[in-house]
Amino acid sequence: MKLTGNTIFITGGGSGIGRALAIALHNLGNKVIISGRRKERLEETIKANPGMSAVELNVQDPASIEAAAKQLIEEYPDVNVLINNAGIIQSDNAAGVYDEDVLISTVTTNLLGPIRLTSAFIEHLKSKEEAVVINTTSILGFVPLATTAVYSATKAALHTYTLSQRYMLKDTSVKVIEIVPPWVQSNNDEPRAMPLASFIDATIKILGTDTDKVLVEEAKMFRNNPGPNENVFVTQLNDTMNSEPPKIH
Ligand SMILES: NC(=O)c1ccc[n+]([C@@H]2O[C@H](COP(=O)([O-])OP(=O)(O)OC[C@H]3O[C@@H](n4cnc5c(N)ncnc54)[C@H](OP(=O)(O)O)[C@@H]3O)[C@@H](O)[C@H]2O)c1
Repeated sequence: MKLTGNTIFITGGGSGIGRALAIALHNLGNKVIISGRRKERLEETIKANPGMSAVELNVQDPASIEAAAKQLIEEYPDVNVLINNAGIIQSDNAAGVYDEDVLISTVTTNLLGPIRLTSAFIEHLKSKEEAVVINTTSILGFVPLATTAVYSATKAALHTYTLSQRYMLKDTSVKVIEIVPPWVQSNNDEPRAMPLASFIDATIKILGTDTDKVLVEEAKMFRNNPGPNENVFVTQLNDTMNSEPPKIH
């Protein structure tokens, strides 16, 4: 995709990967509008990056999505890039009784959110000469972390939804890109995770090509796992993680 001159709307731009990506794209000469639930995080980010804008949005709430999309298209009619970055990860127990709150909030945020948001923008995006939808999945959609089974499942689902979207939009001006982050130090200093700055640098380089998948080196081994022997790596990863639990946030 072209890396400059876009008007970009990104969800979850007040923290972590979304914030860092928003700043990198802002610095490259794009108009960037960030969103999220925590107003103070949004305000801090736009104050530190003059020219950036923010809209409050709860991607769990269809009415909030509709209202934000309407406001955005009215205020920023040039918007041509939508980045579905917002996501939540929570521990669960696939071997036991499920937790209704964890299930509903994770699926609603990580899967229904991007589907609803893209739908709210899609006709507008189709009217642009060049438009992009970016969905942020995860390596855990390809090799699940068993203690975040619902999270991993939502990312696998968003991956296949992305494939369908790309096929259905192939004869339009809308390109569909998937970012598959590896484990990133977005809100922690976990030594086994990729530093946030290196992840963003590598991601921007790949986004600047004509690819439809952003797979940094650290993500490739996971992305390439599905196949007849996929259980081997799933067991290996989960045995390692069980012996030393990750710092998620
Ligand atoms: N960090 C990793 O290792 C990693 C690896 C693979 C994939 N990912 C994916 O990368 C994306 C960003 O993750 P991150 O690590 O940067 O986490 P993060 O710092 O917690 O960022 C998540 C962002 O999503 C927003 N968000 C959450 N729920 C929302 C809602 N209901 N409505 C609107 N915004 C909401 C949050 O803002 P508010 O709380 O203010 O709403 C926050 O800014 C996620 O999709 C995550 O699954 C991360």
